[in-house]
Amino acid sequence: MKCVFLVLATLGLSLAREVSTYDHFRLPTALRPQKYDVRILTQLENPEDFRFNGTVKIQIEVLQNTRNITLHSKDLAINDTEIALSEVGGEGKPGNCIASTEVNPTHDFYILNTCKELLAGQVYELSLHFSAKLEDQLSGYYRSSYEDAVANETRWISVTQFEPASARLAFPCFDEPGYKASFAITLGYHQKYTGLSNMPVKETRPHESIPDYVWTAFEDSVPMSTYLVAYSVNDFSHKPTTLPNGTLFRTWARPNAIDQSDYAAQFGPKVLQYYEQLFGTKFPLPKVDQIAVPDFSAGAMENWGLVTYAEFTLLYSPEYSSIEAKKGTANIVAHELAHQWFGNLVTMKWWTDLWLNEGFATYVANLGVEDIHPEWRTLQLNSISDLLTIFRTDSLESSHPISRPIEMTSQISESFDDISYQKGSSVIRMMHLFLGEETFRTGLKSYLERYAYKNAEQDNLWESLTQAAHKTGSLPTDYDIKTIMDSWTLQTGYPVINVTRNYTARTARLSQERYLLNTDISRAHKGCWWVPLSYTSQEEKDFNNTAPKEWMECTETGESVSKTIRDLPGPDQWVIFNNQLSAPYKVNYDAQNWKLLIATLNSEEYQSIHVVNRAQLIHDVLYFAWTGEQDYEIALQLISYLQRERQLLPWKTALDNLSFLSSILRQTPNNMFYKSFIRKLITPIYEHMNGINDTDSSIQQHDKVLLKGMVANWACTYEVSDCVSQAVSYFRNWRLEANPDELNPVPLGVRGIVYCTAIEHGSDEDWDFLWTRYQKANVATEKMTILDSLACSLEVWVQQRYLERIFDAKGDIRKQASLVVFPSIASAKVGFFLAKKYLMENVDSISKFYHPQSESMADILRPFSELIFTRRDYDEFKDFIANSKEHLKDIEQAISQSLETMLINVQWKERNYESFTLAIKNLAEINLVSE
Ligand SMILES: *[C@@H]1O[C@H](CO)[C@@H](O)[C@H](O)[C@H]1NC(C)=O
Ligand SMILES: *[C@@H]1O[C@H](CO)[C@@H](O)[C@H](O)[C@H]1NC(C)=O
Ligand SMILES: *[C@@H]1O[C@H](CO)[C@@H](O)[C@H](O)[C@H]1NC(C)=O
Ligand SMILES: *[C@@H]1O[C@H](CO)[C@@H](O)[C@H](O)[C@H]1NC(C)=O
Ligand SMILES: *[C@@H]1O[C@H](CO)[C@@H](O)[C@H](O)[C@H]1NC(C)=O
Ligand SMILES: *[C@@H]1O[C@H](CO)[C@@H](O)[C@H](O)[C@H]1NC(C)=O
Ligand SMILES: [Zn+2]
Repeated sequence: MKCVFLVLATLGLSLAREVSTYDHFRLPTALRPQKYDVRILTQLENPEDFRFNGTVKIQIEVLQNTRNITLHSKDLAINDTEIALSEVGGEGKPGNCIASTEVNPTHDFYILNTCKELLAGQVYELSLHFSAKLEDQLSGYYRSSYEDAVANETRWISVTQFEPASARLAFPCFDEPGYKASFAITLGYHQKYTGLSNMPVKETRPHESIPDYVWTAFEDSVPMSTYLVAYSVNDFSHKPTTLPNGTLFRTWARPNAIDQSDYAAQFGPKVLQYYEQLFGTKFPLPKVDQIAVPDFSAGAMENWGLVTYAEFTLLYSPEYSSIEAKKGTANIVAHELAHQWFGNLVTMKWWTDLWLNEGFATYVANLGVEDIHPEWRTLQLNSISDLLTIFRTDSLESSHPISRPIEMTSQISESFDDISYQKGSSVIRMMHLFLGEETFRTGLKSYLERYAYKNAEQDNLWESLTQAAHKTGSLPTDYDIKTIMDSWTLQTGYPVINVTRNYTARTARLSQERYLLNTDISRAHKGCWWVPLSYTSQEEKDFNNTAPKEWMECTETGESVSKTIRDLPGPDQWVIFNNQLSAPYKVNYDAQNWKLLIATLNSEEYQSIHVVNRAQLIHDVLYFAWTGEQDYEIALQLISYLQRERQLLPWKTALDNLSFLSSILRQTPNNMFYKSFIRKLITPIYEHMNGINDTDSSIQQHDKVLLKGMVANWACTYEVSDCVSQAVSYFRNWRLEANPDELNPVPLGVRGIVYCTAIEHGSDEDWDFLWTRYQKANVATEKMTILDSLACSLEVWVQQRYLERIFDAKGDIRKQASLVVFPSIASAKVGFFLAKKYLMENVDSISKFYHPQSESMADILRPFSELIFTRRDYDEFKDFIANSKEHLKDIEQAISQSLETMLINVQWKERNYESFTLAIKNLAEINLVSE
């Protein structure tokens, strides 16, 4: 292949760089990249001048005649005079050239107009030089750093984060997921570093002119999308691990944290092997590297063969991290490795179907962790947590369908949300449960085989699954997956099913409507869902059967049809729909059925209702009380059974729900009644768990450790029993240690609660002590726990100082951690007004602080939504948002969801506050009498 470099400057032409008139948000479809050759030189030695430059050569196939090459490029300096274009295999023919270039800054297009038409069927090679500063913006190709305490030096590394649309910040490319191509990456850097990329190293040789520099070339990649390309230059250490016959697996971290990588290094290869078996397809690359990056905006990124993680998600220290953190590591590694199939091998055609990536990875990760750590019961816990999350988000009018049109980069970023992940995961679980194991696996396998190295849409998946389902007979032949699943993925929301029993005829009439929290909006004609109906009764108690006995159907025009269920038991027996919450819907019963359920829950027999359905009943009744479909009297009667409950899920459900009430009540004069209500609720379980005493190691069951932590958190907040004094004494003992960074007497599972309680009830010296521990800590999860707890102070000036500290770019708090700390301050007892004022006064500098990641502002706004519940505060916030439009760009979804949540709180206050407080006052009086 011969490259014809046309240096136009020597011809005396100056290129006009105009602003283009092509204004569609997608690339034209006339061209298709086949192969990229990317060479990047990175300079990390001079802290005054971090930069990279490089060359990209792209082989482009012409599908339709065209006179331009339109690429993505953002914030890159491209020297127009060095662009070369030649026809591959066109030796001897007259060459082509670039006549002019244009840019479209709205869509990040870089458009090269060619001298002659490019002809369909031909392949061209385009070559470009580019350069840019290596910034710390956490997207594209950026720098990160860590402190080497021994040498007392800052060490610098570089790494990429391209998803969804930042490859264009690193090199000019066709930056859409549909343009898969092979990538040959070559990295140039000082020889004291290591270079990593998706593929293994092919060769390393000295740089031709720069002393002590090398070029490392990596093998050509398999065909993949630009957002999955990754590389890093660093001086990290690594742990090798290989399973017999398994893929080569290495785990990388800064040298002083490498001992925290053991768990991830062992877990990764195991889960990869599990997936090879589950999907019946071998992992296609020769190796996987996983790397813990000190500055990282997301939790992790599934780059094919080079998976990147934030330190606190990948690293785990048995001495400093909680079991929850360990589980988090397992879960995120399982998620990213599931993407190697769902996302990397088969990729969505366009971001509309992002949920195919994220929903699958979320669900399949649960299967992976369950397989390796069955004792954690991850599948159940995570599946139900996902449902509880979407039952809230997706009951907002401002939610959106799983599959949604995407027209702007900012919309892609906003799609990485509960709906793509948790709702996506929940509907896949529903499908798994109604299709059964064999059909599910066969369907997935054929989908993965059919679309390997290609792109797919949800309809392609529906087709594979329908074929499998009809073959095995797990779906009636007149049903197809597309009809059923479109009702879940193309419509916003989920249904509530009313079950009205006829106790003499032993039937029940079922009707559905969309469940909405906002009671000002009519629910009529808001959609219809195909609902698999599983149910059981008091005499049958067959909760394990999650296969549908019947279906709720919809008409062809999408209208709901009511359904009658026959052969139900008599009037003294309850029925429950949705065994183990196998599908995402709520159920409201008639008064008699609720009464029967409440009676069983409040008896010795409460465990005859499956633990997941106990959680479901708590969840549903509290929501129905909130929206006024059920009395708080009934809801409180139901949850009073919790005094017997010892399992995690019902407690988690109850406390998650009550936290919305807590946020409001704690700002009202009736908080004292609420406080005594919570104390009464929590005390039995707190005492059962032996308070916050004890270490985790004495508790065998993982979910008991989580339950203990959760209960302790409420107990210390509501000053139950000895919680506060115990916490303060643990903290005091820690302060007395001669070497507190080495020895910490606080049990791992309750560290966050102990620190927070001690800061709340402690002195300035306690705060400073903890801040010093933060500075000295070497374990990222411990650092996060401390930062979060430092927000618990009740001193206004301490909070104010902390607010200023988190937005200090040169300070000790990394940018991604600030996104955790600000919400913690906003939701702290005395933080709300301070944080609100701080945000309102400094919105311009805060938005500059996060630039160009404008989506970070969503995390800054979100905590206020739970805390605002008066019309006046709501109006103030709405005005603030209207007046700050320019600083709150690209987060329209977060804004409308926050405002709607506030409005829902306002409605609750106006409708329920009086009746709710009356109900808890009555409970308190009953207590006084009975005690
Ligand atoms: C990149 O920068 C290096 C060092 O400044 C220089 O030697 C090299 O020519 C540059 N490469 C390109 C492709 O611009
Ligand atoms: C580039 O070519 C495509 C296909 O021929 C065309 O649709 C598009 O409008 C052109 N772009 C510009 C900026 O002329
Ligand atoms: C662009 O490239 C030409 C030819 O290599 C060189 O003379 C010129 O200085 C470059 N311009 C910039 C701005 O780097
Ligand atoms: C580390 O270096 C900084 C400046 O580079 C210096 O101020 C500080 O005293 C040094 N610390 C130690 C422990 O040597
Ligand atoms: C490894 O693979 C070889 C050949 O495929 C096979 O004979 C051998 O049993 C495998 N070893 C293990 C431990 O799975
Ligand atoms: C379901 O029950 C609620 C509360 O009784 C009622 O407001 C609603 O109209 C019913 N919806 C349907 C579809 O039957
Ligand atoms: Zn993911």
